[in-house]
Amino acid sequence: MPQEVLRVENLKVYYYTIRGVVKAVDNVSLTLNRGETLGIAGESGCGKSTLAWSLLRLVPPPGRIVDGRIVIDGIDITRLDHEELRKVRWRKVSMIFQGAMNALNPVMPIWLQIAEPFIYHLGMSKEEAYTRAVELLRMVGLDESFAKRYPHELSGGQKQRVVIAMAIALKPDVLIADEPTTALDVVVQAQILNLLKKLVRETGVSLIIISHDLSVIAELADKVAIMYGGKIVEYGPSEKIYKNPKHPYTQALLKAIPRLRAPRMKLSYIPGQPPDLRTPPPGCRFAPRCDQAMPICSKQEPPLIEVDKDQFVACWLYSTSEKLKNKNNE
Ligand SMILES: Nc1ncnc2c1ncn2[C@@H]1O[C@H](COP(=O)(O)OP(=O)(O)OP(=O)(O)O)[C@@H](O)[C@H]1O
Ligand SMILES: [Mg+2]
Repeated sequence: MPQEVLRVENLKVYYYTIRGVVKAVDNVSLTLNRGETLGIAGESGCGKSTLAWSLLRLVPPPGRIVDGRIVIDGIDITRLDHEELRKVRWRKVSMIFQGAMNALNPVMPIWLQIAEPFIYHLGMSKEEAYTRAVELLRMVGLDESFAKRYPHELSGGQKQRVVIAMAIALKPDVLIADEPTTALDVVVQAQILNLLKKLVRETGVSLIIISHDLSVIAELADKVAIMYGGKIVEYGPSEKIYKNPKHPYTQALLKAIPRLRAPRMKLSYIPGQPPDLRTPPPGCRFAPRCDQAMPICSKQEPPLIEVDKDQFVACWLYSTSEKLKNKNNE
């Protein structure tokens, strides 16, 4: 029986801006088992990072978790006070932040950036902390010579390895990697994905990998959540979603991936813009861009239902009984 390490239930995270309420994460539910990798994909602005930040309770103001539960190891962390939260953050759930490799401290040697939590949180001596930092560097494929270097002496890929070492320093159960390969060239991108794969295999950590690029997620994920406009529109085992995507948005995202081996053809793109999350359209948020939209789609929100074993889709194309019910009520 797989052991569940994370459960998100009906999570809502909104930003209260002067121009209105941005519903960045709107009723999202998902689960993650030990040693499992979940990929979260969707276009820019669909709420991926906001969802990730909320799992560490680090949503920046004016954002706030408005409703829902985030259960980690049986504890609902939305209810913890700051002292209790300290025991969970970085230790149970940790994160490689989007763009973090460009935010390393330029005047601090690499080893000390990795070792800081050992010295300040665990009270280790400098010598012990240095030894542990070198161990972590080795785990991410960098030798001891990197310990005393400064960030400007490292390449992009090496800096990203350092950031990964920092994120796994306190041996978290769940590691979130937010766009870990964006801005890296394809060769380095493949190396970083291999490193993450190795860490999952060797440490048993559960991984959430976030990317706007479905081909990055395909490399690693056991299951995938496709987000659109603050909601999950399709969720299930990777194999099923890549082979047999059901939601028109997932189908469109997959068609937009260039394929090296396929015959040459025009790359498709999704016309239109993602919705403004202050005033999302009524019904299905994808309806205005969907080439299969029906009248009900712009009226009523489709529920997320299981259309094939473990494959959930929020689309009226598959909710026949609900559609009929609605028709009878019209
Ligand atoms: N601090 C903030 N204040 C107000 N709105 C915000 C803030 N941060 C994010 N948002 C809004 O919340 C929505 C979701 O943003 P988020 O950064 O989570 O998206 P994302 O999917 O991670 O995008 P990307 O792929 O570009 O990283 C967007 O509409 C964004 O404009
Ligand atoms: Mg983001």
